[in-house]
Amino acid sequence: MVGIPEDFIEGSGNPALDAARLLRQRLEVNRGFGWDMPVGSASRASVPTQSAVSGEIEDREAVLESIRAEVADCTLCGLCEGRTQTVFGVGNKSARILFVGEGPGRDEDLAGEPFVGRAGKLLDKIIQAMGLAREEVYIANIVKCRPPENRNPATEEMAACFPYLERQVKALQPEVICALGGVAAKALLSTDLSVGRLRGEFHEYAGIPVRVTYHPAYLLRSPGEKKKAWEDIKALMAHIGLRLPA
Ligand code: URA
Repeated sequence: MVGIPEDFIEGSGNPALDAARLLRQRLEVNRGFGWDMPVGSASRASVPTQSAVSGEIEDREAVLESIRAEVADCTLCGLCEGRTQTVFGVGNKSARILFVGEGPGRDEDLAGEPFVGRAGKLLDKIIQAMGLAREEVYIANIVKCRPPENRNPATEEMAACFPYLERQVKALQPEVICALGGVAAKALLSTDLSVGRLRGEFHEYAGIPVRVTYHPAYLLRSPGEKKKAWEDIKALMAHIGLRLPA
């Protein structure tokens, strides 16, 4: 069994080997649009043509851009009053894995991008330990505007904002969702159960498997729980057939 990577980073110590592993993992994380399959492979016929694929991606991009534009002007709840800007989401529009956090903090509100502060740096380490890059997954939040004083978003704020995430999920169609923390779990799974109770098994949102794990900000405060979070991540990867870097 693979143990917890040191601080969520794992490498062989050999940069060339690590780069080769990362490349292999990237080929696997890509949705298999055919370019990584041997020519003449038996299953190639079932792979969508390049133009069908680029058409699908363009559609996805167009849908996401139109949601992004709506979000940018949103005044559906009071959080809009305190924001510098909305924080829509970032990542690969063909990502197999969608991470969902709670809402922007100060750093994210200034940058307009989710998970760029301290918790974001830890999320990056988790993604790296998975053998992936941040650009290969998609990252979004339950609410798109920063709650004042970094408080948890209120139920009515989550309810107002959730339809945007709902539409993002529909456009992205990830194979698996990782709910980071209790707020994401509550909104996606309509539950008040704690992360401790919810983790360890797969749930479902809109037909997509959801794995709940601890929020990176919580892991910064409680590093002893990183081991459990890593177990959750490994289960999520196994669920979609992603191998860990050796
Ligand atoms: N915490 C979150 O839940 N989301 C962010 O984008 C940043 C910190």
